[in-house]
Amino acid sequence: MRGKKVGIVGVGNVGSTCAYILAMSGNCHEVILRSSSNPDKAKGLALDMSQAVQAARMHTVIKHAQEPSDIADCDVIVITAGSPRLPGMSRDDLLVKNAQIMKRVMDDVKKYSPNAIIVPVSNPLDAMVYVALKETGWDRNRVVGMAGILDSARMAHFVYEQLGYGAGQIRCSVMGGHGDDMVPLPRFSTVAGVPLTDLLTWDEIDAIVERTKRGGAEIVGLLKDGSAYYAPAKAAALMVEAILGDTKQIYPCAVMLSGEYGYKDVVSGVPVMLGANGAEKVIEANLNDDQDRKFAKSVGSVKQLIEALYSKGFYTKS
Ligand code: 2OP
Repeated sequence: MRGKKVGIVGVGNVGSTCAYILAMSGNCHEVILRSSSNPDKAKGLALDMSQAVQAARMHTVIKHAQEPSDIADCDVIVITAGSPRLPGMSRDDLLVKNAQIMKRVMDDVKKYSPNAIIVPVSNPLDAMVYVALKETGWDRNRVVGMAGILDSARMAHFVYEQLGYGAGQIRCSVMGGHGDDMVPLPRFSTVAGVPLTDLLTWDEIDAIVERTKRGGAEIVGLLKDGSAYYAPAKAAALMVEAILGDTKQIYPCAVMLSGEYGYKDVVSGVPVMLGANGAEKVIEANLNDDQDRKFAKSVGSVKQLIEALYSKGFYTKS
């Protein structure tokens, strides 16, 4: 039986950290790193990680792709290629630049890994999922964007900071786009099964919600020369492992909606079941009026981004 192969396109901090996490988890047979702009960096990182694998007495094979054709026959491809978010930039500032990169990467993916599941990570995330779907023409289950796990983890950390206990037992839920209008859902969040709303005041919860929404920007502001990468990389690796292992775990991910929550033809973060076929099922939670209104706003923001791909001439309406 062929071992599981994961492609990582883009070897910045998120891509390389994700590759390293996968290499050390032992959950895939081969990880291949691809950078069209800096193949030597991909080669150097692959060499470095290969040596770490030997030190750890693991078995994962780490390679680099010299040619686009080297990413052939991947089961999952994580796309981190794109300009990173720098201080003062919103995720949306990156729109057309990263859409062009995504388009080029999709040409290669379609050609060389026609059966892969794609996990876009590049920003603006929801629009990049849209571009990946449009460029491949694949079924929506095969393009699953990373962001909800990251945003939920950020919220969980802020809950931990506020409470001072419960680390590892905090389950937070964030839906909507990976942008300033994301929707942290305190009513769907628990600490060891105890509702968050029983443990914190609404003032405390509101502060956590606001900090979660700015979670990426807070780190960009501190790092000064780039954006977060440990948590984004871990979140992407969790998705890859759920897909490779066909675990049917529920994670918040960015998918094209086809009527769920009352929307279609727009990408948003919702709970999905991940398995060998990617996003195998979209889970529909009952949102109350307040949650529904916030989700609508977030969906509206992603719609505007998708519209901007047309108004800026990246796509033309047929
Ligand atoms: C983040 O949230 C930049 O989207 C990236 O850290």
